[in-house]
Amino acid sequence: MAGIDIEGLATVYPNGVRAVDGLDLHVADGEFFALLGPSGCGKTTLLRTIAGLENASEGTVRIDVADVTRMEPGKRGVAMVFQDYALFPHMTVSENITYPLKVRRVAAATRTATAGRTSSELSLQGLLERRPGQLSGGQQQRVALARAIASEGKVLLLDEPLSNLDARLRLEARTFLKKLQRDLGITTVFVTHDQAEALALADRIAVMQNGRLRQLGSPREVFARPANTFVANFIGSTPMNLLDGAVAAVSDGGSVSVANGSLPAATGSVPAGAEVTVGVRPEYLTLSDGDVNGPSLRGEVVVAENLGTSSLVSVDCGGTLIGVTVPEESEPAPGTSVVLTAPEQRVLLYDRESGELLAKQPAAVG
Ligand SMILES: Nc1ncnc2c1ncn2[C@@H]1O[C@H](COP(=O)(O)OP(=O)(O)O)[C@@H](O)[C@H]1O
Ligand SMILES: [Mg+2]
Repeated sequence: MAGIDIEGLATVYPNGVRAVDGLDLHVADGEFFALLGPSGCGKTTLLRTIAGLENASEGTVRIDVADVTRMEPGKRGVAMVFQDYALFPHMTVSENITYPLKVRRVAAATRTATAGRTSSELSLQGLLERRPGQLSGGQQQRVALARAIASEGKVLLLDEPLSNLDARLRLEARTFLKKLQRDLGITTVFVTHDQAEALALADRIAVMQNGRLRQLGSPREVFARPANTFVANFIGSTPMNLLDGAVAAVSDGGSVSVANGSLPAATGSVPAGAEVTVGVRPEYLTLSDGDVNGPSLRGEVVVAENLGTSSLVSVDCGGTLIGVTVPEESEPAPGTSVVLTAPEQRVLLYDRESGELLAKQPAAVG
């Protein structure tokens, strides 16, 4: 088992695209680490640079302390699962799984034993003599994983391994993958553009944009305290409300004026009058039909969308639409007058220009 250390890493393609642009990351031994970001942000390039399939232009990659930056892929001790699985169509499942061992000239008896053990870990028993073309998408995905695991690398690199599965199967495969990673305890870097997948699976998430790191943290941290408005927009299945606001005078207690009212906020060292972007998740806002003690907003319900066990209610607060999530049984009818507020520690202040989080009050995450 091994950690991965990345320092000042840049990968520049011959056409001049800086797909990875000055990255520092540490993946701990045994960690399930997600690289998350929109299409084209450099996730695959970073994974391939760790594997040695792309050359680093600047910086270093260390695996298990050893500097592997200039080492050929086969010697790095990494196993990779590609987005399209890259199974050999003419080989059986068993031959596919043990191919990396065959290349390393591992004895046939050992290979057979590994195929048996790995196929049972991945619930592929009974399929060992089939060819990839005779398998479902989910089974092919598990064969690709089995091949990676059987090669006994120190680290497992997974490039969007669930993206080719349909929605239902993807959820099952997600649970399976999380349990497998926990059982094996293998250091795993998992690439996805799906924020829900990263939140569900990872111990920590690196959110990337344009080849750079925008935030590194636990799923709870990136959800509850996005470090900038890019991450705030990207994370969460209902979008965070990002509203123009201004910090109120100190005499008004900690609050920000937004829309037609105000919200409590730990303003810290942000001066009164400062114009900010106020970020508050729909899940952290509360709706009531009467008076609220402290800063609040008045509005009228416009529409409610059913999310299953909850509803996303859009409230018009003096011309500004604000989303609030409520339990299904307390969904108000359109036209209802309501009052909104949120706990102080859930109201985040961002720099209006740079979009970076301000007033880094003690993280009341949880
Ligand atoms: N082989 C390549 N040659 C030139 N540019 C590339 C190559 N592969 C990827 N890119 C560019 O590098 C950037 C990052 O791509 P990629 O790592 O595939 O992102 P992601 O996996 O996050 O979608 C994109 O702008 C993409 O167009
Ligand atoms: Mg990719």
